Amino acid sequence: MEPKKLTTASGIPYSEFENSMTVGQRGPILIQDYLLHEDIAHFNRERIPERVVHAKGSGAFGTFTVTHDISKYTKAKVFSDIGKQTKVFARFSQVGGEKGSADSERDPRGFALKFYTEDGNWDLVGNNTPVFFIKDPKKFSHFIHTQKRDPKTNCKSPTMMWDFWSLNPESLHQVIILMSNRGTPMSYRHMHGFGSHTFSMINHFNERTWVKFHFRTQQDIKNFTGDEANAMRGIDPDQAQRDLVEAIEKKDFPKWLLQIQVMTEDQAIEFAFNPFDVTKIWPHNEYPLIDVGMMELHTIPENYFRDVEQAAFAPAHVVNGISYSPDKMLQGRILSYPDAQRYRLGANYEHIPVNKCPYMTSNYQRDGLMQVSENGGAHVNYRPNSFDDIVADKNYKEPSMILESHEAAWYDRNMNDSDHYSQPAKLVTKVMTDLDRSHLIDNIVNSMKGITGEKKEEIIYRQLCNFFRVDINLGLAIAKGLGIEIDESIMSRK
Ligand code: HEM
Repeated sequence: MEPKKLTTASGIPYSEFENSMTVGQRGPILIQDYLLHEDIAHFNRERIPERVVHAKGSGAFGTFTVTHDISKYTKAKVFSDIGKQTKVFARFSQVGGEKGSADSERDPRGFALKFYTEDGNWDLVGNNTPVFFIKDPKKFSHFIHTQKRDPKTNCKSPTMMWDFWSLNPESLHQVIILMSNRGTPMSYRHMHGFGSHTFSMINHFNERTWVKFHFRTQQDIKNFTGDEANAMRGIDPDQAQRDLVEAIEKKDFPKWLLQIQVMTEDQAIEFAFNPFDVTKIWPHNEYPLIDVGMMELHTIPENYFRDVEQAAFAPAHVVNGISYSPDKMLQGRILSYPDAQRYRLGANYEHIPVNKCPYMTSNYQRDGLMQVSENGGAHVNYRPNSFDDIVADKNYKEPSMILESHEAAWYDRNMNDSDHYSQPAKLVTKVMTDLDRSHLIDNIVNSMKGITGEKKEEIIYRQLCNFFRVDINLGLAIAKGLGIEIDESIMSRK
């Protein structure tokens, strides 16, 4: 093979690679050794802002194949025919840590998918948990601050975490999942993925059905115990990245079965909880899982920075046949992601290859920093105009969404929906095994032992009350683990 000539970024062949041009053997260096300065200047600009959350992650390309007909719920082209295949890009991530943090940290895992469909890119930006810590986006930045570093010590702080959680019992469901061994999955291949929010599906008759998306791992759920996860942080901080790369390179392609739960608009009105509350699940026995198709990941990107670091997923990206719901958290996310990506990647981030829609895009957005697309060519860049042929196709109009009120106000987020306990109680007492529960208790105790400072007792007692409300035995076991004596007879008094 012909070797490639070394060139500058502008393609000019350069004769010297390792030695700078100097005056004499020992010399000062000349500014005219241009490649020296070009290399250093480019190097100085290699880092871009990391994602404000989910900074550490791994990605792979794959294919989604439809196996079951769900056209009665949706006209989305991605689901149009059995056997239909659509290219996908998946990125898995940790939430709270920085780009260099360890893969085995206790944290939810991000499960973000981009489907390159004929009607544009559909992004499902979910987690490996079906619920979330909060149900109003106004709390998101505050919550995330508690998962990051203490402003003074610059260390992670169990005090901040448990302070916030103890004051927000709506977080209990997610906290219990996080503190179970599901908070430390053995790899990205061994966890489920969830769209978490309620979305809409819209069919050919323009009828709306509420839907939840579930991606069930075909590799089985496998988790680390708390001790194993702690050990893995030291053994291989990039263990989940390595696992994904190695599995795919040896053609052990990971797969996830897509299933949906559906709820009619009438059922939503009758549902025991607010069906748009992301701290709650829809019980599977009432809303059974329906098979849809299989996602398989088969290609690790050639270049991590180009495709994984620059990937931009957005819950705003829904396609014809799939839409939003009134879920406040989902609504809050619609604006946030593209805003973050314009800051992180620049105004033209949608033209970066991994984000680019492989089908036609036509609009009047032009120019901006690093415009590397055809930029609309010679086409007219305003509207209305007498020259172009772009039409806003009314066939893509959604049915109107029926809302419960015409009053705008700051409603208490717990209004009619303050039961933060019965679903976590079911999870702890009915779904978990004795072993699961004992790991859960150990993990909670170990974490709560990290609470320090003048508010320590207040925070611990407040959170214990939350656990007691979930299940008395859970509360007692955690109290015992923390060395707190509880008079059990109080528990039986009304
Ligand atoms: C109001 C609530 C939320 C806000 C404001 C928010 C905001 C953000 C922002 C700004 C990013 C970084 C985006 C980027 O730079 O590319 C991000 C990443 C992410 N978020 Fe959220 N988030 C919220 C809730 C959630 C929820 C409920 C989930 C899961 C159900 C979730 C899953 C993710 C995932 C998976 C990523 C990483 C995407 C990737 O791999 O690039 N977020 N979030």
